[in-house]
Amino acid sequence: MRTPDFPVDSQFTDRWSPRGFDPNTKLSASELKTLFEAARWAPSCANEQSWQFYHAKDESSQQLFLSFLNEANQYWAKNASHVIIVCARKTFAASGKVNAHSWYDAGAAWMSLALQARKLGYHAHCMAGIQHTVIAEKLQLDTAAVDIIAAIAVGKQGDASHLSDKHKAQENPNARKPQSEFVFAV
Ligand SMILES: Cc1cc2nc3c(=O)[nH]c(=O)nc-3n(C[C@H](O)[C@H](O)[C@H](O)COP(=O)(O)O)c2cc1C
Repeated sequence: MRTPDFPVDSQFTDRWSPRGFDPNTKLSASELKTLFEAARWAPSCANEQSWQFYHAKDESSQQLFLSFLNEANQYWAKNASHVIIVCARKTFAASGKVNAHSWYDAGAAWMSLALQARKLGYHAHCMAGIQHTVIAEKLQLDTAAVDIIAAIAVGKQGDASHLSDKHKAQENPNARKPQSEFVFAV
């Protein structure tokens, strides 16, 4: 249980990133669409919507998406329902100029997805520990045009007994810096 320093909607403190997932609970196709719909409505620079999400189209490609993670993430994410890869186009569609805010916008979209996941009773866990070269090759991504940013494991929270001791110790909602460390009234 996280206690905020100031009143805030509980959706913000209820979102956290477990590593223990229930291998027997899968998101339905419509629930997955709902997650991406939440991401879709994120704001973005010039409404560019630079984000791109890749996920397994069926059971047979789930293993492929798992293989996109590094080993330290694979061992726990294998119990999640889905692994999603987050990318962002590097340039504005209209002008071809560099979009310096594409990652910022993809971050807003991922957070929307994560909050929507909690609303459906699931958890989303973002991962930077991914294999960029493998992802680019298998998804046939043009890395001159698209940045591969992160992966997201989504699923129902479950048993954590198989986790490493380090990860078991982290299997709780964590804390935050006080506002005094990052908010500046000038
Ligand atoms: C961009 C990003 C990359 C992350 N990479 C990893 C990762 O590779 N492996 C992992 O287990 N957790 C990863 N995390 C989870 C963070 O450690 C976690 O979000 C952070 O400790 C805050 O905890 P909370 O999400 O439970 O509130 C990542 C989170 C973000 C947003």
